[in-house]
Amino acid sequence: MKKFYQTICLSLIGIAACAQMDSKLKARLDVQVQELEPKIIEWRRYFHEHPELSNREVKTGARIAEQLKALGLEVQYPVAKTGVVALLKGSKPGPVIALRADIDALPITERNSLPFASKEKVMFSGQETGVMHACGHDGHMAILLAVAEILSKNKTELRGTIKFIFQPAEEGAPVSDGVSGAELMIKEGVLENPKVEAIFGLHIQSLLPSGQLAYRSGGLMASVDGVDIRVKGQGAHGATPWDSVDPIVISSQIINGLQTIVSRQTELTKDGAVITIGSMHAGIRRNIIPEEAMLEGTIRAFDDNMQKKIHADIIRTATKIAESAGGKAEVNIQVMYPATVNDAKLTEQMAPSLQRAAGVENVKITLPVTMAEDFSFFQQKVPGFFFFLGAYPADMKLDKQPTHHTADFMIDEKALTTGVKALINLTMDYMMMNSKK
Ligand code: NI
Repeated sequence: MKKFYQTICLSLIGIAACAQMDSKLKARLDVQVQELEPKIIEWRRYFHEHPELSNREVKTGARIAEQLKALGLEVQYPVAKTGVVALLKGSKPGPVIALRADIDALPITERNSLPFASKEKVMFSGQETGVMHACGHDGHMAILLAVAEILSKNKTELRGTIKFIFQPAEEGAPVSDGVSGAELMIKEGVLENPKVEAIFGLHIQSLLPSGQLAYRSGGLMASVDGVDIRVKGQGAHGATPWDSVDPIVISSQIINGLQTIVSRQTELTKDGAVITIGSMHAGIRRNIIPEEAMLEGTIRAFDDNMQKKIHADIIRTATKIAESAGGKAEVNIQVMYPATVNDAKLTEQMAPSLQRAAGVENVKITLPVTMAEDFSFFQQKVPGFFFFLGAYPADMKLDKQPTHHTADFMIDEKALTTGVKALINLTMDYMMMNSKK
């Protein structure tokens, strides 16, 4: 690996500085990260105890803004409803980069008996529910606050400007809120003034060992779209199906037909894809053939063209199957998040920084993940690099580790400093590579 670093340095002589920050500075920053660890854990516990749902992160946003103002940064709050953006200008000229953390929690009642477990309650979709940071966003906020604090103190070493983006509503806001999260932040100009040229972000991953980092060039996380299919038939007595156009039988044929899109019509050696029908509603009584049936599903893909083709395939398959039975299918596809695609050049450039932050043995190449992330909207505008931070405790068996979005979800707080070091290394190294001496 050492040889690899040297190659990068040599190849860049004359164009820019060496690809990585000086090792003395790195060692000094590492010490500062370790010294800040108790505070990082305290921040994470505060956010964990006070979770707020998407676009409702009022106290969370205020607390972040207050912390960033205390560091002397230029702070904008609120942005995109409850988000916070802060600017840190380094003493030396160089590129503008953005670092992003998401700040929202989920409608889940926490089952952990931690002293800082959430006791928050809200009404959600007409039901009372607990609120919980069950995806690790509490850790993301603590990590980014720590990066802001440490780099603010080392402003004289910074070659460029950092935009800290604390983004609301990653988990998806209520439809009535309209455009939200990363998409709204971009609309409100978060990537402009000054213009961001690259963006970095991480996600805690509960099934990756604590302290490890994982990344992938290209499609890292899937796009997500919703599909609703209303199947219209003709009602009749259950005893005389020849009088009906049975929407239940048509629906079952459509479900089977949709399963052949991924298995028979998608080039799976290029990238994976998923079509899941997760809800099917029709009928009220065993001997009444209803007039309509309703199907709801989710679509995942890693490639824009494949995603568009799957949409067209779904519409054709559902409408033609319904027509062949004398019925009708109305297909409504809701395009939600694009795929999280790591820029190939940026990934190649920056992977050594992850290795330097966590140790070569602790950095893995991951398989693509079929969950989605709205970090993808930023990556559609500027080259971006997103990676995973392992956070499952070493003393726990992997099969006992609760997964994301569950009531038992928990993380190993020791992983947080690895996240801070990773973002600091990426920032400092990127600035080194992309500023003129
Ligand atoms: Ni998440």
